[in-house]
Amino acid sequence: VKFNVTFLERTASTNTHAWQLIHEGMAGEGTVIWAGEQYAGRGQGENTWLSQPGMNLTFSLVLEPSALQPDRQFCLNKAVALAVLSTVRELAGNMRVSIKWPNDIYIGGKKAAGILIEHSIQGNLIRHSVIGIGINLNQLEFPSGLPNPVSLKQLTGLGYNPKDVLEMTCSRLSAEYYRLEEGYFNMIHADYDKSLAGLGLDMEFAAGPSTVSGRITGVDELGRLLVLTADGLSEKFNHGEISYVIRES
Ligand code: BTN
Repeated sequence: VKFNVTFLERTASTNTHAWQLIHEGMAGEGTVIWAGEQYAGRGQGENTWLSQPGMNLTFSLVLEPSALQPDRQFCLNKAVALAVLSTVRELAGNMRVSIKWPNDIYIGGKKAAGILIEHSIQGNLIRHSVIGIGINLNQLEFPSGLPNPVSLKQLTGLGYNPKDVLEMTCSRLSAEYYRLEEGYFNMIHADYDKSLAGLGLDMEFAAGPSTVSGRITGVDELGRLLVLTADGLSEKFNHGEISYVIRES
């Protein structure tokens, strides 16, 4: 991927800005919108993404993964999660960094980075994907009410340069995207599962009103969480159907 980076001092959301450019025909494969401040940062679902101005890395990358079938789109989520995982791993030294399904990046039991991927689909093709990435770098205080946020600085005491981290992340995105385009799906699935938070541990899951005991065995190509329940059943859950907590370790 050839990256073409635009820095904005302030915007509502880099994902929203990227979509506007796409609609105007001003963005395509490799366009990167990086912002110092987002005043309406978006998270998954109805969530917001809060990031103090200048403290963290918030950017969006536009891709045109035309070879990726829409029903395989979760493979792109996995590839992106692996790229962000490897960036955070390098920055965090020897701390335990993992992917919390579907694509949050955790250090121990806390969330250090989030990913929001949006697609436009035309017929049976993905036209554009906007890959939004937020990595908490230097922020030391988070509003109460957020589930369990953490920044790298809170854990390592070090300061991070957002531009350097942007470059690192882009080079890893490029490597993972290459694997995806070349069709190395099995490698992507295996690497993703290997880094899944909670893999193989006995846990309690909240599934609607009921509780399920079991262990995570992986995530399938449609993005469903695979759980082997205590009753010996193999169950599949979509995002939003099940929740669980990753314990600090
Ligand atoms: C989540 O964990 O819910 C996803 C968070 C994604 C945040 C990033 S920051 C850059 C990009 N622009 C946005 O508005 N959101 C994503």
